[in-house]
Amino acid sequence: MSESVYPVPEAWARRARVTEEGYEQLHGRSLADPGSFWLEQARRLDWVKRPELAGDWSFDEADFHISWFADGKLNVAANCVDRHLASRGDQIAILWEPDEPSEEPRRYTYRQLHAEVCRFANVLKAQGVAKGDRVTIYMPMIPEAAFAVLACARIGAVHSVVFGGFSPEALAGRIVDCDSSVVITADEGRRGGKKVPLKANVDMAAAHAPSLETVIVVQATGGAVEMKAGRDLWYHEAAETVAGDCPAEPMAAEDPLFILYTSGSTGKPKGVLHSSAGYLLWASYTHELVFDYRPAEIYWCAADIGWVTGHSYIVYGPLANGATTLMFEGVPNWPDASRIWQVVDRHKVEILYTAPTALRSLMREGDSYVSATSRASLRLLGSVGEPINPEAWRWYHDVVGEGRCPIVDTWWQTETGGMLISPLPGATQLKPGSATRPLPGVDPQIVDADGKVLTGPTEGNLCIARSWPGQMRTVWGDHERFFQTYFTTYPGKYFTGDGCRRDEDGYYWITGRVDDVINVSGHRMGTAEVESALVLHPKVAEAAVVGMPHDIKGQGIYAYVTLNANCVADEDLRQELRNWVRKEIGPIATPDALQFAPGLPKTRSGKIMRRILRKIAENDVGSLGDTSTLADPSVVDDLVKNRVG
Ligand code: WTA
Repeated sequence: MSESVYPVPEAWARRARVTEEGYEQLHGRSLADPGSFWLEQARRLDWVKRPELAGDWSFDEADFHISWFADGKLNVAANCVDRHLASRGDQIAILWEPDEPSEEPRRYTYRQLHAEVCRFANVLKAQGVAKGDRVTIYMPMIPEAAFAVLACARIGAVHSVVFGGFSPEALAGRIVDCDSSVVITADEGRRGGKKVPLKANVDMAAAHAPSLETVIVVQATGGAVEMKAGRDLWYHEAAETVAGDCPAEPMAAEDPLFILYTSGSTGKPKGVLHSSAGYLLWASYTHELVFDYRPAEIYWCAADIGWVTGHSYIVYGPLANGATTLMFEGVPNWPDASRIWQVVDRHKVEILYTAPTALRSLMREGDSYVSATSRASLRLLGSVGEPINPEAWRWYHDVVGEGRCPIVDTWWQTETGGMLISPLPGATQLKPGSATRPLPGVDPQIVDADGKVLTGPTEGNLCIARSWPGQMRTVWGDHERFFQTYFTTYPGKYFTGDGCRRDEDGYYWITGRVDDVINVSGHRMGTAEVESALVLHPKVAEAAVVGMPHDIKGQGIYAYVTLNANCVADEDLRQELRNWVRKEIGPIATPDALQFAPGLPKTRSGKIMRRILRKIAENDVGSLGDTSTLADPSVVDDLVKNRVG
């Protein structure tokens, strides 16, 4: 064994649901007899009608379809709330830690959560929202965001949560794409002591979203907002006029649960659509297995509800499993870099799930912020969203966890609904930087550029050879795009867009995206989206955007911009363009570096050679490769000379 292997700690091996040998057996059985494996797993949910069918799917063009438990019926909110009332009605379901540490946390038992969700559902119904309607949720990290999501699930409405950091323009695009007539928002959000004008953003978005008829506003900060008569209503006023109980709508297993927009390598963000039963089963199954979760343990996923991690691992997975899930309104470095550890101590958090980018930014501040806190409650640490570099992994393990907590490095995607490749804390020896092995039910394959399946230790493109219940079902409004995006690069397989290495122990090491998607602070961004935003500016003729290495963010955004004739490239314009992108998409899309480029490297047929732009952004100009096929090879010299950052 090399020294960079971390064995399963004794304490974990003893309590493990799945042991080292157990894992091999379970994974083998899940692939040998998926039908009975998944019907057995389906018992973890409460069904209105228990399914007799498991997976029915084909990734082939002629017969392309995906369905799971198709004859079953259930309600997702009833599974996350109602079914716990008898056994743990008085247990805390949602534990809310406010942005401002001097404020009191809020706590909701399962019984209180039930009442809140019913009331919210009745407010939606009173506004005419019915099964199948799309409801856009643009909320800060307050408990009402979870109530809103579950209220939609309760009545069978399809929620589309839009991250509160997105701009009015981006919000409008998402409202229009799924034709949603209702937006749920708050007066303002708070993050790190700053206010986010959510309601004002909705007002601006409304100008570009003709389908919008109703805006339900939760009072969060009490800040002044304008209320438009006939369109806007206060949630707390509407809630007083509705009944306290609301029956849960029985839904078909394959009925849609939610849409979540995510960036791809081309075009506008896609509305990833997830099903009711398969998705919930996956969220519950993975949450229990990967965190070896037992009800009532204090669990904290420090993501935002606007991303898939928040959906699956703040709301649906933990609540389906009867967890106490902590929801945090703030940011890791405010009021100072000890905030996460303070929150861990305050609430005796046992399981912490966060992103490498947060760890890297805290690591930089030094160990004293960590060592000033106890963290004695912590038992297990998780990582998600981007590759974790071994240095950050070791800091998390040695400093934060003081060597006693395993780290589950979980690889997955918005499209996968939940984790696919991850250690199990009682079963998997860890290697820093590796997401380790596939979960039972998951069949990864590494293929070369021609789609040939590679065996043994190897490196290539990561595909998944068969369907799993949590898989997305379509791109909202564009089923053809779903098929084209994921199933045509390597016919018959789901292509993840990630590169991957498999080592001699069968461990998977995700090497990052192989397409034009970049991962900035764990947030997915399509380079094409940033380019489209840039070329909307009147002075910009052309733009090309690539990723560049960034110490904290993992990847930063590097933009090359060609201006229209007679426009002056100066510092002011550079700043103006960065702000422009910020306004068009949101702060997370702001280019870290912006280079004015009189010309871009193009082939004779006019295609931009991104490979060269990536190398220059990475400052790896010694290995630009063959530039002789360029229409004008001299542009490269200029680009190298004027490189920024
Ligand atoms: C990357 C977030 C390495 C990967 C859940 C994937 C990771 C993309 C990991 C999906 C990990 C996520 N190790 N890379 N543990 N987790 N990724 O849709 O490139 O926001 O394709 O889902 O993040 O990002 P998304």
